[in-house]
Amino acid sequence: MKQLIDRLEREHILTQQEFIALLEKRNKTLAAYLFERAVAVRKAVYGNTVYLRGLIEFTNYCKNDCYYCGIRRSNGNVPRYRLTEEEILSCCESGYTLGFRTFVLQGGEDGAFSVPRLCSLVRQIKERFPDCAVTLSVGEFPRADYEAMFAAGADRYLLRHETASADHYRRLHPSNQTPENRKRCLQDLKDIGFQVGCGMMVGSPGQTLANLAEDLHFIYELRPQMVGIGPFIPQHDTPFGGEPAGTLEETLFLLGLLRLMLPQVLLPATTALGTIHPRGRELGILAGANVCMPNLSPVPVREKYALYDHKICTGDEAAECRQCLQSRMASIGYTTVVSRGDHPDFQRKSERN
Ligand code: 5AD
Ligand code: FES
Repeated sequence: MKQLIDRLEREHILTQQEFIALLEKRNKTLAAYLFERAVAVRKAVYGNTVYLRGLIEFTNYCKNDCYYCGIRRSNGNVPRYRLTEEEILSCCESGYTLGFRTFVLQGGEDGAFSVPRLCSLVRQIKERFPDCAVTLSVGEFPRADYEAMFAAGADRYLLRHETASADHYRRLHPSNQTPENRKRCLQDLKDIGFQVGCGMMVGSPGQTLANLAEDLHFIYELRPQMVGIGPFIPQHDTPFGGEPAGTLEETLFLLGLLRLMLPQVLLPATTALGTIHPRGRELGILAGANVCMPNLSPVPVREKYALYDHKICTGDEAAECRQCLQSRMASIGYTTVVSRGDHPDFQRKSERN
């Protein structure tokens, strides 16, 4: 099995059968070897730095009804909120003071934030903070809308593909949400020129190792600049509330594989990873990740962005999360940096601006 890891490092891809074999044979020794190689590759590209992104969860209204997600339309138990433009800008302001140079605006698919409104928000942020990157994570739109967001100045876009298997996608979503449209969105975003992030939940209900191998092949073909993965965690008010969570070990193993597959990828150690294990994010970095996304949302709304149960950081101020992450990273020998942190292929372009 170690030879497969060596070959993945050299050639950046394996067959789906080989990925399945690695995932099946995964054990402590194999994982330790994978993490050693992944960290070496990550260090060659990024040294011992971890990029920080300021995450602003600006609305938890959502017209979608994904079976796994706590802010799905049918969940009547979650109090809904939407931040005003002024509140969002003031999150950016405090984030900027704390040193953040990337703002990630994430929200449910909330019709009240029309495309012109979203674009105007992006323009205002870019005007006030011209040295910052803006990442949008607001779901599925027609291509023309993505073009408008890009023209408004958005630099990056996160849209997890959730699962590359069409059958599995239909197990996780109602029939009006199609795997074809999800993939169409990602391709459009890529073609338009965004730095794009896709990704999947690990251990979501019905997921097989073959599905994960398919995910890896999908990611390899899309060649995204960012990949967001985290364990599935049940949320008690959803149809999957009684399902088991994904595991720390499997998520870390996939982070390691992703680093060898896409050496330059921006790979976050996610909040979900920090939720299933107290040192999940540190372990994610030690498996090959190189990004953390501390929360900048106002404290009173944080627990309402309840995608899953027991989410961390819901009671902490932005400054506390910033400090906390800095010392967590220092504890494993890493330095947090707050530059824009573009993907290496995009650095020249953004320096020209
Ligand atoms: N557990 C883990 N991750 C979740 N997400 C949504 N619900 C859950 C859950 N219950 C993830 C999805 C989505 C991202 C914003 O959060 O992958 O794309
Ligand atoms: Fe939020 Fe540690 S990152 S409290």
